[in-house]
Amino acid sequence: MVETVEWTDDGVLLIDQTQLPRERVYVTCKTHEEVAVAITDMIVRGAPAIGVTAAMGVARGVLETDAAELPAAFPKILERLANTRPTAVNLFWALERMRAVYDSVASEPIDAIRERMVAEAKQIKIEDIAINQAMGRFGAELIPDNSTVLTHCNAGALATAGYGTALGVIRAAVSAGKKIDVFADETRPFLQGARLTAWELQQDGIPVTLITDNMAGHFMKAGRIGCVVVGADRIAANGDVANKIGTYSVAVLAKENGIPFYVAAPISTIDLALETGDEIPIEERASREVTHVGGVELAPAGISVANPAFDVTPNRYVTAIITERGVARNPYNQNLREIVEGKA
Ligand code: MRU
Repeated sequence: MVETVEWTDDGVLLIDQTQLPRERVYVTCKTHEEVAVAITDMIVRGAPAIGVTAAMGVARGVLETDAAELPAAFPKILERLANTRPTAVNLFWALERMRAVYDSVASEPIDAIRERMVAEAKQIKIEDIAINQAMGRFGAELIPDNSTVLTHCNAGALATAGYGTALGVIRAAVSAGKKIDVFADETRPFLQGARLTAWELQQDGIPVTLITDNMAGHFMKAGRIGCVVVGADRIAANGDVANKIGTYSVAVLAKENGIPFYVAAPISTIDLALETGDEIPIEERASREVTHVGGVELAPAGISVANPAFDVTPNRYVTAIITERGVARNPYNQNLREIVEGKA
């Protein structure tokens, strides 16, 4: 499986996801500033992968700063990394975890601080892979044998430290011996489905059929889709789910056609501080992502463009939320809280 993000002595090593699948190019981010730019430019993307990378960015920031300057510089390092992408809460979760560790060692010698920060960033990565595998085990039970699973965007190894959330569920179902094939929405405008999900599954030998986003309803109505599994960028306390733009349309179509709609996401994606999805900040990205495909301008010059990167699916369309601690169903207000607080 492809390595998405790796800690090396030279910096944070990322596979450049803007170049896939045409080229396998790696980028080394030596400073926290370079890490921040890589997140904003989507060299690395996907909620858990952004969290892991940001944690490593904090560690780079601590390594690049003199001991005397660190107390004043540390909050600025966090702030710079926080100001990259607003929707995926895993970013803020990871920064908060790094801040808590820094606070606990801030009075120690600089070498001890540095060692501890690097260790924590590496630990977040290790945990993310284990979390995805646990989620996969719970989710695999929900996937019918001999079925086709529709997915949107890329919630795979590339969107995490490895294995994936939605694609982790699919991988686990296949490992359990189920005969699964996948329909991957291309996911305009950034084409994470066409470029990344299709590539990842092809590499693993999992049968995958690429469709354009506007074909999903047609295949659901024709009885070709057994269930939908997607990832998430932020889940509010009531179970409303922010995920890649177009997810809401898929969820409504699934309900209309009586097809289960599952969301696979780690606990770090659940934001109990927000009551409903209306409070989730939605990132607006550059118009060029809509007007251009593969660097070629398709729309008339000067056209007005809207480009929200995410939408919010109301909880009534969500059949279940698969986490590393188990599966939550309605009423989400109660069941998500119990899972997050470890009572489930
Ligand atoms: O804009 P992106 O590519 O970062 O958006 C990614 C998604 O929406 C994923 O579905 C989500 O982060 C879950 S990834 C496990």
